[in-house]
Amino acid sequence: CGIVGYIGHREAYPIVIKGLQRLEYRGYDSAGVMIYDGEDVKVCKTKGKVVDLEAKAAIEMKTGGTIGIGHTRWATHGVPNDVNSHPHVSNSGDLVIIHNGIIENYAPLKEELIKRGYVFHSDTDTEVLVNLIEEIQKNENQKLGKAVQIALNQVVGAYAIAVFDKKNPTEIVAARLGSPLAIGIGEGEYFIASDASPFIEYTSNAVYLEDGEMANIRLHKKIKVRKIQDDSLVDPYIQELQMNLEQIEKGGYDHFMLKEIYEQPSVIKDTYRGRLHANEGIIQMSGIEDNLEKFLNADRIIIVACGTSWHAGLVAEYIFEEFARIPVEVEYASEFRYRNPIINSRDVVIAISQSGETADTMAAIKLAKENGAFVFGVCNVVGSSISRESHAGAYTHAGPEIGVASTKAFTTQITVLTMIALRLAKAKGTMSLSDFHMYLQELELIPEKVKEALETNDRAKEIAATFKDAPNCLYLGRGYNFPVALEGALKLKEISYIHAEGYPAAEMKHGPIALIDEHMPVVVIAPKQGHYDKIVSNIQEIKSRSGRIIAIVTKGDTQVRDLADYVIEIPETSDALSPLITTIPLQLLSYHIAVLRECNVDQPRNLAKSVTVE
Ligand code: G6P
Repeated sequence: CGIVGYIGHREAYPIVIKGLQRLEYRGYDSAGVMIYDGEDVKVCKTKGKVVDLEAKAAIEMKTGGTIGIGHTRWATHGVPNDVNSHPHVSNSGDLVIIHNGIIENYAPLKEELIKRGYVFHSDTDTEVLVNLIEEIQKNENQKLGKAVQIALNQVVGAYAIAVFDKKNPTEIVAARLGSPLAIGIGEGEYFIASDASPFIEYTSNAVYLEDGEMANIRLHKKIKVRKIQDDSLVDPYIQELQMNLEQIEKGGYDHFMLKEIYEQPSVIKDTYRGRLHANEGIIQMSGIEDNLEKFLNADRIIIVACGTSWHAGLVAEYIFEEFARIPVEVEYASEFRYRNPIINSRDVVIAISQSGETADTMAAIKLAKENGAFVFGVCNVVGSSISRESHAGAYTHAGPEIGVASTKAFTTQITVLTMIALRLAKAKGTMSLSDFHMYLQELELIPEKVKEALETNDRAKEIAATFKDAPNCLYLGRGYNFPVALEGALKLKEISYIHAEGYPAAEMKHGPIALIDEHMPVVVIAPKQGHYDKIVSNIQEIKSRSGRIIAIVTKGDTQVRDLADYVIEIPETSDALSPLITTIPLQLLSYHIAVLRECNVDQPRNLAKSVTVE
């Protein structure tokens, strides 16, 4: 979920609405807003997106007022409907809350509050929290901040919250545990948000609350930050933001996803800028240099991640083992954290996360740290929770990724991981010097080749038109391109709602081959390098069962061209780096299929970009 708050001298409503729109990547099942007009609180909420909220508010609500909070939801407790949307109001009508996260022990708390006469209108855990705060305020005659603190000390779960009390309307109280929260500091005004994007045009100064901290945000006063648990005051660290407005706007593209696909040549360059010096034969990343011994002494590397980041981890497994000869295990963070894994102090755990906020990945690294492992974060969002929780790390520098389906985050993650593997290979002497130089040079050429691969856009669009109504689709690849097949299938599923599966091409005969007939599109990743002959045999197997083949091939390929129904040609690179190129036409293919199916490309149903609940 995304949360936004404003307290200051401007009209709060437009700031909150625009902020919510920028945070919709965090969830968009339902949305709501509260505005304080100087006398009373006005609340409007609805199932649907922020535009639906705006439409409803235009009819139902006077929007004037200089204090406001808003929420865009990704449902956890209770179906997305108007009542379950945030903000939630306490029984007296005085307290209003927005919440991102989960209150796990809501049931006993709710029972107790019901006994005390509280009435609940929604199925949410959040409504329990706001009434608990109210009960504490009443019983113990506490001010809002103190009551919030006492309540949070009774709560088990994860949260980023903002609470407003009509009885004392010059303050918003905010707190975080497990879900991100930034406070923008302007001249006589404050902004509260899940990330800084809602307020970057107003201020470049922000405080990111740490886990377990809360803040009293009062008009014309300095913010006060304290630890929720023991009430100790914390000196807030004011950060200068690096984000700019252009980065979070569409810049002429129809969708953020397309913009981000097209940004890949430049952001891959940003990823290796200052780190890769091909001519001098140098790869340097401070996070690695400072901890080189940890990597060199590691018995193995465990990669933890979710979703697309997990796919980048799988590519990295192939690369690390091949280049640096270090055993690698790739784990779904959600499985790893709950299966009592064997971890020791000679393990290096690499956490990959675009947002740096994914709850399962966060929990996995905490577990790894408790067991003495060294944790290295590969994150995109600077200052994110996972980047801070890790012992060291390397940012991908892809810039804000807003489309829910991850594209540039994936290729920049692979770029960072490849550089790490090369650096370790050099230190360990597991790669010949000539290969090392070849890879450095080849990596430097990748942005140009990605640019060339983007020229397949029209071809991808044509093919998309042919297959847009297919109910299923199979993606096959081998070696380095097996994870690319998984990622290609995920992209299609996510944004076009076509069922798709990725498979290692040779495994096809152990099951999926039964599905192949003349209606089944099969996307085969078949670049010249790698296991080309093997994949040609796999293509034959599909062809003899009348499957419809879309092949991703190296420019100039003739053998596959003769067998496949459709080919998309991409520039040649070395086998290990080929995922950076083969991924591009698959991103474009899924994009165009989704557009033709009139799906919401940037905000596919039921998904959220940043999953801060487990
Ligand atoms: C969500 C997003 C995916 C993303 C995954 C992991 O499911 O929709 O695009 O790959 O979370 O997110 P992370 O921020 O940890 O990379």
